[in-house]
Amino acid sequence: MTSSGGVNRKVCVTGAGGFVASWLVKLLLSKDYVVHGTVRDPGSQKYEHLLKLEKASENLTLFKADILDYESVYSAIDGCSGVFHVACPVPSTVVSNPEVEVIEPAVKGTTNVLEACLKANVERVVFVSSIAAVCINPNVPKDKVIDESFWSDKDYCKETKNWYCFAKTEAEEQALNFANRTGLRMVSICPSLVLGPILQSTTNASSLFLIKLLKGCDSLENKRRWIVDVRDVVSALVLAYENHEEGRYICISQAFTTRGLAEKLKSIYPNYKYPINYIEVDDYKMLSSEKLQSLGWKCRTIEETLVDSVESYKEAGLLQSEQF
Ligand SMILES: NC(=O)c1ccc[n+]([C@@H]2O[C@H](COP(=O)([O-])OP(=O)(O)OC[C@H]3O[C@@H](n4cnc5c(N)ncnc54)[C@H](OP(=O)(O)O)[C@@H]3O)[C@@H](O)[C@H]2O)c1
Repeated sequence: MTSSGGVNRKVCVTGAGGFVASWLVKLLLSKDYVVHGTVRDPGSQKYEHLLKLEKASENLTLFKADILDYESVYSAIDGCSGVFHVACPVPSTVVSNPEVEVIEPAVKGTTNVLEACLKANVERVVFVSSIAAVCINPNVPKDKVIDESFWSDKDYCKETKNWYCFAKTEAEEQALNFANRTGLRMVSICPSLVLGPILQSTTNASSLFLIKLLKGCDSLENKRRWIVDVRDVVSALVLAYENHEEGRYICISQAFTTRGLAEKLKSIYPNYKYPINYIEVDDYKMLSSEKLQSLGWKCRTIEETLVDSVESYKEAGLLQSEQF
């Protein structure tokens, strides 16, 4: 299907049922794109929220595809002019088999998607990377502002068994090399910790982090975390797509320590439990989203993000038993 004027507005979103991808599908549908969403188990109730989105009945088709299965990915991408590759495992706990559970789907899954894009003559690809591929590097001096020229240190990620960061770094590096080698037009967006309201009925790793703060625990590392709202992430993805951008873009809003974030939440919602102790860690890093902002990208306030997140968790019944 094409929009008026003959421009192909059919795009594919991989892993459409996830936290970020669900908001992306919602935004694309609102902009009259025709969306092919890949999911692994199309009959499952966990994708019902997608079918209820405005314009979904006319413009959204769900395709059964595993990114490790090239043919299934190609079937979903064929006929699309754009692809947003979002699917990737984001573990919320320690994984027992990192190669199978994280690295292979992130790296081989991305290669499959890009090869399918090339074969299907897709015009542009937006790849969702992460600051996990940018700033996990012990050798960056503290007075340096980390921008898109920085890469995470893969050996350090391996040594510290930070498999998700290793996988995102390897996947993005290979994706950008693939694009350079083949001429496939690709832009890579690197968000920080993504928070904000959930559309899906299952919880994802980054939302679980905020839920953990609200539920409280004995102790938590007082890490410095860069945050960005899910709605601002998807607006960055579509902005980069519609502007025909290439290269990398860091997508972050504000930084808080874990304690600072809990205190901010407590000032709005005093009746949740919150962590009791914090373990101090020295991980100060300064990052910049200036490049993305220069495209006109803007982000919400942290207050809006936190309130909308908590209200959505309440609505989903995720916090009931923890309130005083
Ligand atoms: N959330 C964050 O804080 C954050 C920060 C930076 C970057 N990111 C990136 O943003 C993207 C989305 O993250 P998210 O937070 O939205 O995570 P999420 O809710 O857990 O979604 C991940 C999606 O990946 C899909 N997936 C995993 N393995 C797959 C496979 N083998 N084949 C097909 N689909 C597969 C899952 O599909 P099923 O529904 O079939 O399970 C799910 O829809 C990821 O690329 C992540 O690295 C996230």
